[in-house]
Amino acid sequence: MSDSHSDALVFFGVTGDLAYKKIFPALQAMLKRGHLDVPVIGVARAGWNLEQLRARAHDSLEKHGGVDAAAFAKLSGLLRYVDGDYTDAATFQAIRQELKAAQRPAHYLAIPPLLFGTVVEQLAKSGSAQGARVIVEKPFGNDLASAQELNRILHAAFPESGIFRIDHYLGKRAVNNVVVFRFANAFMEPFWNRNYIESVQITMAEEFGVEGRGAFYDQTGTIRDVIQNHLFQVLCNLAMEPPVRTDSETIRDEKVKVLKAIPALEANHLIRGQFRGYRQEKGVRPDSKVETFAALRLEVDSWRWKGVPFYIRAGKNLPVTCTEALGRFRKPPTVIRESALSRNHLRFRISPEMTIAVGTTVMAPGEVLKGETVEMVASRHPRPDEMEAYERVLGDAMAGDATLFAREDYVEEAWRIVDPVLKASTPIHEYEKGAWGPREVEQRVSPAGGWHNPTATDQEDFRVSSQAG
Ligand code: BG6
Repeated sequence: MSDSHSDALVFFGVTGDLAYKKIFPALQAMLKRGHLDVPVIGVARAGWNLEQLRARAHDSLEKHGGVDAAAFAKLSGLLRYVDGDYTDAATFQAIRQELKAAQRPAHYLAIPPLLFGTVVEQLAKSGSAQGARVIVEKPFGNDLASAQELNRILHAAFPESGIFRIDHYLGKRAVNNVVVFRFANAFMEPFWNRNYIESVQITMAEEFGVEGRGAFYDQTGTIRDVIQNHLFQVLCNLAMEPPVRTDSETIRDEKVKVLKAIPALEANHLIRGQFRGYRQEKGVRPDSKVETFAALRLEVDSWRWKGVPFYIRAGKNLPVTCTEALGRFRKPPTVIRESALSRNHLRFRISPEMTIAVGTTVMAPGEVLKGETVEMVASRHPRPDEMEAYERVLGDAMAGDATLFAREDYVEEAWRIVDPVLKASTPIHEYEKGAWGPREVEQRVSPAGGWHNPTATDQEDFRVSSQAG
């Protein structure tokens, strides 16, 4: 363990949902790999004791991935528990005591952002912020002003280099592979720009609904939940310039430059949808106008991308669960009848499996002159044996590597882009569960050639071009 590695993990919100679903499995995985060897101090106001926390961790692992007896025994040994109110100085004295001689603790705030101010202030007062890191969960604010306020609160006790804003999409290997594929292949550079690419589209479809998170979701909506953060990160990876060095700041500079080149989203380039039945979900207001689906169009006004529309759509209760990005090429100036040609494409499938494929037009078998699209698959990993996103981001934060985290200027730029439409009351269109969002999308926010609807199995079928004449 290097000097800069965190020597304790303080975990606020340890009795919560995120801990149960994602963090205990991530901690167990880190232990199995030998990546965790420091005390894990859980903090919550639940009236629990350490045994109850251990039992909860065991239960979480049983439900999410399985218990590894040896790793769980180690986790039990590392776990500590502090019960108390976040407004109470005594809670933070108790944390201080558990920290013992730790010099560089990582404080993980898996708690509502409303409580950040209180916790950060108490950490500073009790002397636990000194030399420490803070890891914060999304959503980072709910608009530009609140994000700026959160940044102000965090900066009162931590330098920017000690702040790790999680976007677990950045922990996905397939998201990072977009950048690697672009810059590790010489053939990519000549065409991945406005000269050849007609449009880029990103789809994040989820077959399930709000799953008991109605109260949270109704304060959030799709734009805040996944577009402003996860899908903007995907967009940046697709659109950024090659970094001149590989250190975290140089890479993050390039991503911020992409966002800076994007003008604020216009209301007429956005369709918001709500699945039928959403208003009957627990925790949702009966007259809610919050979107469970959004499709939008952005421009990246950079030298590389000026004039190329970037489309993003995301939603709950869509036909499949899948995240994909697809860049469509301009049509070649061929003598073959235009309608006979489908456009070439480059496809990055991000989840559930990772695929990178190039769509080409070839002559279809048979006597009639027909074109069909065939994909050249560069990479396909049906069940990637890889780190879960949370394992990766927690490990990186504790090691002090900020590359996979959103920097202050990044989050503020991302909010700037969506802020005006979040404040405007744009219409909300109903859609049926299992549809690709409301009908208005195809009419108003759709790339030339239409949206490409990914399939669940990744057996993509593009073979529907018409006969040449
Ligand atoms: C979360 C959102 O950040 O990301 C959820 O709050 C969404 O609504 C989830 O379902 C998707 O993440 P993943 O890793 O399952 O694609």
